[in-house]
Amino acid sequence: MPLTGGSFHDLESRASAVANELLSIKPEESVLIISHLDADGLAAGSILFSALVRSGAQPHLRIVKQLEGEVIKEISAMKPKYAVFTDMGSGQKSLLKDLVETKPIVVDHHQPEKSDMDLLEVNPHLSGFDGSNDLSAAGTAYLVAKKMAESNSDLSTLAIVGALGDIQDKGERGAFVGVNSIIAEEAVKMGLMTVKKGLRLYGFESRPLVKCMEYTIEPFLPGLSGDEGACYKLLKGIGIDPRRQDGGWKSVSDLTKDELRTVINGMIKYMISQGMTSREAESIVGAVYVLNNELPETPLRDAREFASSINACGRLGKYGLGVSICLGDRGNALSELKEILQDYRKAISGYLKWLQSSSEAVRVLPNVQAILGGSVVDEKMIGTLASIAYSSKQFTTEKPIIAFAKASKGVKVSGRATPDLVRRGLNLGAVMKEASEKLGGSGGGHNIAAGAQIPDGKEAEFLSIADALVSKTVSGVRL
Ligand code: C5P
Ligand code: C5P
Repeated sequence: MPLTGGSFHDLESRASAVANELLSIKPEESVLIISHLDADGLAAGSILFSALVRSGAQPHLRIVKQLEGEVIKEISAMKPKYAVFTDMGSGQKSLLKDLVETKPIVVDHHQPEKSDMDLLEVNPHLSGFDGSNDLSAAGTAYLVAKKMAESNSDLSTLAIVGALGDIQDKGERGAFVGVNSIIAEEAVKMGLMTVKKGLRLYGFESRPLVKCMEYTIEPFLPGLSGDEGACYKLLKGIGIDPRRQDGGWKSVSDLTKDELRTVINGMIKYMISQGMTSREAESIVGAVYVLNNELPETPLRDAREFASSINACGRLGKYGLGVSICLGDRGNALSELKEILQDYRKAISGYLKWLQSSSEAVRVLPNVQAILGGSVVDEKMIGTLASIAYSSKQFTTEKPIIAFAKASKGVKVSGRATPDLVRRGLNLGAVMKEASEKLGGSGGGHNIAAGAQIPDGKEAEFLSIADALVSKTVSGVRL
């Protein structure tokens, strides 16, 4: 597929420059990889960790909530020879300048901050690609890993997982676009992945129907995700018996074509009834990415579920588990993961219930809508809640969502938008950066998903600045 928008040649030469530096690291030289806690960050950090170990280096991997001054202070105290930042760094170059005895290397896909710093950096934006659609941090790390050794191509599946974690399956019917589609083709050619057409329900090709509805987190199906009884009832309600005649659960292979159509229509109707647009609801039908080397009954077989699984680990603070799954740990890690996934679905359902029942949880302004999470919502979960809130009737897809939670220091802000708002001119990363900096904080990210850190008590001011910025940039015309 021809690549448009950017220069793949430029991206590859930047990846080669980073790869050559990483290959020059000797076993006795200290190298610390610092990555973000979400699925893309965990996958990106793990890809470079594996590639470095395979090349004979002895890296350490540290997962953080975000790149802030404290993290730079900690790195400065440890004095590693190299600090490799994955899924972060491009937007925080002013902080990297404080590293004196450590050489920073950045492998990122966030909107880069301009800087005169002499920095080894690979980022799709620098080569003309869009880091929110065309390539994830894990994909960028994969390009570097492949330049380090062709045999690292087995890590392509982690690159796919990272891209799905960042919701980059934005092509027609859940396909990949840009550099992601090249990586997906490589994984398919190597027999590591199969792309099927189906319902984007987790484990759709292998699990009982009731179970894949219950387990699906992205999109979160309010009232169904995490509730087997409700999924059973919905199927019964549309005339599908969830059980076979022999008493076992029905899988997709047990359905006739007509029954499958009924299930698809039933799911779309349900999602619309929950407030999703018909475009979003119809996107439930599309590409399903099956990882051939994972066992069918595990949450890692379906690449979207793999992404949600490690995202759950990160968001619940189980960084070690997330990384060890990316590095290939199964067995006990899988049993632990099943519990984490249950906790994660429960936490999300609890937050959604709180949103519906608390009169002070939501604030609506002319151009933005806000979730005031205070100390109710964990700062690591506020981003997830903001993403999922669009699946709930309470929130309109016409305005971005800006969510706040009390952080260990100050307030954590998470913003989420829709592809339509971005087409109409919204750049949430720029809004977060400008509004937070006006209040003495910091922020940035992507046009569609971004975040910030602001001082305590500044939520209302932040909202009114963001409201004005959104009104200035977003055109009223739907495209
Ligand atoms: O740091 P990073 O780029 O990986 O984070 C982006 C975050 O935004 C992810 O947690 C991803 O799930 C979220 N996102 C979203 N909706 C989108 C795109 C990304 O919630 N359309
Ligand atoms: O934390 P959350 O999932 O809301 O982050 C959304 C996106 O914004 C991520 O890509 C994250 O790396 C980015 N972000 C940022 N600066 C911050 C907070 C988040 O660039 N201070």
